[in-house]
Amino acid sequence: MTHVLNAVAWPYANGPRHLGHVAGFGVPSDVFSRYMRMAGHDVLMISGTDEHGTPILVGADKEGITARELADRNNRLIVEDLAKLGVSYDLFTRTTTANHYSVVQDMFTAVHDNGYMVEKTTHGAISPSTGRTLPDRYIEGTCPICGYAEARGDQCDNCGNQLDATELINPKSKVSGETPKFIETQHFFLDLPALADSLNEWLNAREASGLWRPNVIKFSQNILKDIRPRAMSRDIDWGIPIPLDGWREQPTKRLYVWFDAVIGYLSASIEWARRSGDAEAWRAWWNDPETLSYYFMGKDNITFHSQIWPAEMIAHNGAGARGGEVGPFGELQLPTEVVSSEFLTMEGRQFSSSRGVVIYVNDVLERYQVDALRYFLSAAAPESADSDFSWPEFVKRTNNELVAGWGNLVNRTASMIAKNFGEIPAAAELEQVDRDLLDQTTAGFDVVGKAIAEHRQKAGLAEAMRLVGEANAYVSMTEPFRLKSEDQRERLGTVLHVLAQAVLDLNTLLSPYLPHSSNAVFAALGGDGEFMPMPHVEEVSDLDEAERATYPIITGDYSAMPMWASRPATVGAPVAKPTPIFTKLDPETADIERQRLGLDAS
Ligand code: MF3
Ligand code: ZN
Repeated sequence: MTHVLNAVAWPYANGPRHLGHVAGFGVPSDVFSRYMRMAGHDVLMISGTDEHGTPILVGADKEGITARELADRNNRLIVEDLAKLGVSYDLFTRTTTANHYSVVQDMFTAVHDNGYMVEKTTHGAISPSTGRTLPDRYIEGTCPICGYAEARGDQCDNCGNQLDATELINPKSKVSGETPKFIETQHFFLDLPALADSLNEWLNAREASGLWRPNVIKFSQNILKDIRPRAMSRDIDWGIPIPLDGWREQPTKRLYVWFDAVIGYLSASIEWARRSGDAEAWRAWWNDPETLSYYFMGKDNITFHSQIWPAEMIAHNGAGARGGEVGPFGELQLPTEVVSSEFLTMEGRQFSSSRGVVIYVNDVLERYQVDALRYFLSAAAPESADSDFSWPEFVKRTNNELVAGWGNLVNRTASMIAKNFGEIPAAAELEQVDRDLLDQTTAGFDVVGKAIAEHRQKAGLAEAMRLVGEANAYVSMTEPFRLKSEDQRERLGTVLHVLAQAVLDLNTLLSPYLPHSSNAVFAALGGDGEFMPMPHVEEVSDLDEAERATYPIITGDYSAMPMWASRPATVGAPVAKPTPIFTKLDPETADIERQRLGLDAS
């Protein structure tokens, strides 16, 4: 048994999440966590809402409410969506907890004490007409590296490089269109060049492991070539105060949102441990070199997970070129793998909430089965290339694969058993055709498991569905519906027993992808109790700040996860006439949904 940290990107609390988000970090991280638990590992899966930073402040300003109010509202919506999606977090929290504030400040202090946080005078932008600071993200101009005309002051979305607003060619305010004025201001910079050798060493070792997706490792090594100190504070009044005398008191100097958000992985682990009653329990996932850690995100987050966060940990550990002491959190272990996905487009276009090219998770879950969505997002996942969410494809794959393939197999198996025996029958001697099917489904555990462990979830799902096809073919070959006479009854029992066994095994293989329906399938085949544990929402108080309003977390007890192995069908378990598990979608569905988006019928 290994300790496995599953660190999932923290969604911004600036609005509800759309399908592009959950396709990148939500569903894949859950499939992985569920499988790893089933394979016997001790998984800690953590995340939360990312609540600081400019977009939230600007959104709140627009609505005339405080940033905290906006974050409170969206935190609740996001928690509901992710819980409904069945993402099995051990803790889904938020970055505005007192615990997070103190962990971030301790981390800053450790990095600062080791000499990796250097103060510099720099240029900050202000709007000439209002005199207010203009956040980098709201400045647009031409990228000095690739020439892309719509680069932002913090990052170029075309080449992925981080930028400073002062580097942009022909900068303009996205808010007013005016040319910003740059004034002198003091900031703390993370001394990345002093951490570059250690980062490089770590990345080379990770490359040698052969685990990372090639584009992710290449990108990460590439951005090391032009490494520079990066500002880790901002002129903004929404964020975590800088824990140094003379800074703490300044109302408009705060830590950069990305400096604090990535520390959330650590602070959430600590919060989880504190809530579990063993406040030191988090260390098994952070200080033990044998622990495996996997970070799930979309590709626009790679820099922060393969450079900024490991650099913060190296600096905390005192393991960069300037040396230093191991900080208060002990020797922090760098990521085993940064599992980044590519982008999901929608009907061929980029998701954009502002342009209305968007489908929110909640809207889909109100109209369709949650596992139909999980199935499609897994089958058409942007795993190593961009992929598209299209309603006609969603309808087609739901109907052809889930309903007519898997659902039908479960349904006819349960119906035939209910009608002929009312319980799982015993098998007499197996014939070759029976053994062939069971050999295949048994072999599926290795093949599908290996695929999920190696982040080839699409291939894992395709293999499980191929086996569903084999089981359906078995029905056609053995024709149990024709075994009607009394002297065929023993054979009928054997075939239906084999089929029940195959369905139960296939259900286990599919359960990381389709956890909700795996419970329904399990029950339909005579199973007792819950097969796949589900997360739940709990309303909690802040651990350290009693006056703060309660907030929802996602958590769960996953200790009863089924084993990743074939388990024998229970002869005699009652099987009633089933109700269909998956809902067939009307062929008009796709057109109706496309019209909702302002698109023509397909
Ligand atoms: N909020 C960021 C986004 O949605 C992701 C932050 S991941 C974190 O792109 F780990 F840094 F929090
Ligand atoms: Zn660029």
